[in-house]
Amino acid sequence: MEKKRKIAEDVTPFDMDGELLDGLFQFRSLLDRKLVPEKFSGGEEQGDTEKNEEFEFQLAKSQIPPQWANNMLRIEFSEQQIQRKVKELADRISRDYQGKEFIAVGLLTGAVCFMTDLLKYMRAPYVIDFIACSSYGKGTKSKGSPVMKKDMSMDPAGKHILLIEDIIDTGGTLHWLKNYLAGKNCLSVKVACLLDKKARRSEKGKLVHIDYAGFDCPNEFVVGYGMDFAGHYRCLPFIGVLKPEAYGSA
Ligand code: IMP
Ligand code: MG
Repeated sequence: MEKKRKIAEDVTPFDMDGELLDGLFQFRSLLDRKLVPEKFSGGEEQGDTEKNEEFEFQLAKSQIPPQWANNMLRIEFSEQQIQRKVKELADRISRDYQGKEFIAVGLLTGAVCFMTDLLKYMRAPYVIDFIACSSYGKGTKSKGSPVMKKDMSMDPAGKHILLIEDIIDTGGTLHWLKNYLAGKNCLSVKVACLLDKKARRSEKGKLVHIDYAGFDCPNEFVVGYGMDFAGHYRCLPFIGVLKPEAYGSA
């Protein structure tokens, strides 16, 4: 009892905050350990992969609104896989831009999650801007030439530009945007995109060089981590494939 009181007296409010934080971090890491399936810690037995994937899928589904969970066919990229990949990309980009300030231009709205995580891990100097252009509307198929809804606020002339996109599909958006920026006297224009749906590339799209690509994406409609169907699902921390019946013929 005496000893306990002594410790309590010795602990300043600052230390107590520190202790509390330590406790929270320990708790968080316990949670993380429960969340991270064995497949990421290596040494799994053959045949465990499917069980782990199913476990991960059910766990992730239990943490999102049920009406969304029911529309999810499978998880394509887990939160941990995404974070690891984004950090990897940020490291590459930081090395390439060392000492060169660039304008990080996010393509609204789909790129916001990827962009904020990417910039969080970045060690090169940057400023932030956004462009909004769209050719999709509410459906799942590109509807021709993009329309600029919001241009950059900054003047790109004489600057290095890094376009940050969630997913490249036909490549139409980036082809159009790179042409648009070609007339603006930028020092350089590069592209970082998290997902590359190669099977869908148009002839024009094939001309677009992706400087930093995350994952190859299967030819299916994906949502989460910024990507939506009719505005929904953007806030999911993972990327999932939507059941075709969830978007019908949209
Ligand atoms: P693209 O011009 O055909 O390359 O289309 C690129 C844009 O379409 C991306 O910025 C996304 O906003 C959207 N998009 C393409 N495929 C998907 C998908 O599978 N899920 C969600 N959005 C997509
Ligand atoms: Mg987009």
